[in-house]
Amino acid sequence: MKIAILSKGSANYSTKRLKEEALARGHEVRVINYAKCYVTVESGNPVIRYEGQEIRDVDVIVPRIAASLTKYGTSIVRQFEMQGVFTTSSSIAIVRSRDKLRSTQLLARAGVGIPKTVFARETADLDDVIQLAGGAPLVIKVARGTHGNGVVLAETNKAAKAVMQAFYVEGVSFLVQEYIAESAGTDIRAIVVGGKVVASMKRQSLDDDFRSNLHQGGEGTSIKLTDEERKTAQKAAKAMGLTICGVDMMRSDRGPLVLEVNSSPGFIIEKVTGRNVASVIVDYIEQNARGKRRKDRVGA
Ligand SMILES: Nc1ncnc2c1ncn2[C@@H]1O[C@H](COP(=O)(O)OP(=O)(O)O)[C@@H](O)[C@H]1O
Ligand SMILES: [Mg+2]
Repeated sequence: MKIAILSKGSANYSTKRLKEEALARGHEVRVINYAKCYVTVESGNPVIRYEGQEIRDVDVIVPRIAASLTKYGTSIVRQFEMQGVFTTSSSIAIVRSRDKLRSTQLLARAGVGIPKTVFARETADLDDVIQLAGGAPLVIKVARGTHGNGVVLAETNKAAKAVMQAFYVEGVSFLVQEYIAESAGTDIRAIVVGGKVVASMKRQSLDDDFRSNLHQGGEGTSIKLTDEERKTAQKAAKAMGLTICGVDMMRSDRGPLVLEVNSSPGFIIEKVTGRNVASVIVDYIEQNARGKRRKDRVGA
């Protein structure tokens, strides 16, 4: 098959691994920098151009869209969808996953456990928001943050109020969340491919940071999930309409709580767990790309 990996960096580890595995199976693989693609939109003829040439005859795209380029990147994914090309993540599911409010709404609707969350933008009712979220300590998050940036722990109600006021001044939407103290500094990343968990690791922050993101200096170790955790990850992926994703969860006293579902999960987990995630994704492509295009059924 002709597989196009939509990625900004061909040197990126995940991109390299996907390319390597797909080539090893005899596929034709091309890495396309979607940021440099341009499209012509005319009735019945969706064209995509790259480096002065039309991109044609692609069977499958694997989008690896950076958070900073969600809008443009997903419009390129959508253009491939308009051509009927099989994609491992639909444009709408990627957009959904980049919005923490939308994600928490969908996860909650599906009955997936999430930390108690209040969402606000500009409000004079800061005390009410604080009370609703359960009072300090509270975690406050920018609605569109990534890699742990824009996630703040407010240890007192006063601090929570000050952080919210700062976000308010900047005009950003934010989430106020109960602080899951029992697993502070640790979370679980589970990779789901085609509805099944294929690799999982625990991430632990190495300093006293409550955020365990590897980008914030966290360290990953392989772990075995409980049945409940595996089911939760699978349910979360389904709720988001993502067939390939990384589900982040915390182990709490009341069971697994999902923090977010990542539509372009990194492959560092392969090094941590020894699982060949890229190969499982190529399996998934081989088994699904020729079939009927799946409709997005999330509806929100
Ligand atoms: N409610 C919470 N309670 C305790 N720790 C949290 C909570 N929410 C997030 N964290 C910690 O902060 C990290 C980043 O939060 P997350 O919501 O995943 O944002 P990002 O999209 O920036 O990764 C998590 O991996 C986790 O370690
Ligand atoms: Mg995260």
